[in-house]
Amino acid sequence: MALNRDRFPGLCDGWARFDAPGGTQPVDAAIAATTEYLGGGAFANYGGPFPAARRTREVTDRARASVAALLGADPEGVVFGPSMTALTFRVAGAVERTLGPGDQLVVTRLDHDANVRPWELAAERSGAALRVVDPDPVTLELRPDLVAAELCDRTRWVAFCAASNVVGAVNDVRAITELAHAVGARVYVDAVHAAPHVELDLRSLGCDLVACSAYKWYGPHLGVLCGAPALLEELAIDKLRASSDAGADRWDQGTQPFELLAAAGAAADYLVETWWPQITDHEVALTRALVEGLGAVSGVRLLGAPARRTPTVFFTVDGEAPAAVAERLAAERIAVGAGSFYALGLSELLGLGAAGAVRAGAAHYTSLEEVERLVAAVTAVATR
Ligand SMILES: Cc1ncc(COP(=O)(O)O)c(C=O)c1O
Repeated sequence: MALNRDRFPGLCDGWARFDAPGGTQPVDAAIAATTEYLGGGAFANYGGPFPAARRTREVTDRARASVAALLGADPEGVVFGPSMTALTFRVAGAVERTLGPGDQLVVTRLDHDANVRPWELAAERSGAALRVVDPDPVTLELRPDLVAAELCDRTRWVAFCAASNVVGAVNDVRAITELAHAVGARVYVDAVHAAPHVELDLRSLGCDLVACSAYKWYGPHLGVLCGAPALLEELAIDKLRASSDAGADRWDQGTQPFELLAAAGAAADYLVETWWPQITDHEVALTRALVEGLGAVSGVRLLGAPARRTPTVFFTVDGEAPAAVAERLAAERIAVGAGSFYALGLSELLGLGAAGAVRAGAAHYTSLEEVERLVAAVTAVATR
């Protein structure tokens, strides 16, 4: 059983795709929206008094509205960019201009480097101090009390992930945000891994800025940044004199990839139309099958044991290099990756070295039969 599998043309080749944390397959509506924009007569730029220009403006506004509906954000506070990494460098660069010696930034050792290095550089260049929070050593969740221990009244921003892209730990975004706000700090949340698995409502979570990537939630390769319009306006970003100073358009660096915006909007609509409890129920079953199935294989070591998690597992097989395990699974037409997946701090904390571990991550289109196939193939590798 899998959810809406027939909506994903990329899944028809017999491969079991456990590379969802690296990028999900695009949904049919996102593919159609790209084609429609490119070939449907609306291909233009903003600003002309003719229908294609007006339609191109509508494509942007519609994409912002759809993404805002998905994330519980203000449509006026939705910015698109080439990737989460590029957007985060831009935000951290703007924050850097507000910092000086005595100020403090907080990052975590659970995060993808895209939510660490930009802040590290901002601290280095501004003279601010950088504090690093470790996840719980056993569960690998980000514990609010461990974050609280690194906060003080000079903390300006706390950068952390809503969910880990390697061990799947889902963090308590609301609790961490409240702690940061209590000392007057702002939060920058990496929701790249969480967004396809957890229903997010940024307004009620109270986050200041949240970044994610549409290609992790069934859309195109496009980054998304969301926040209060007033905060986005306050940040001193580099921009052209001639480009718009108004609202989220102020963040545009050159002409937008409108066909990707159209696709991102369609992918967001797809997720909004799919009932979240249906996704959650199926993903809980997938997670249980992955954790119990792989956990029962002799010689397999699952890393981390978070209470709340996405269907993503990170594991090693005794006596086998992670890359060799991934190769063996690929020979069975099972797609997984091996390495650190840019979660450099975590890889170091776990003593994994450059080889990292194997990551298998499902999505709601994954079937339980595919999980059984994965477990059987890993068992064969572990027992040879
Ligand atoms: C948790 C997490 N954060 C950030 C990123 C970087 O996203 P992007 O590729 O859009 O820069 C990734 C990419 O895998 C990720 O998994």
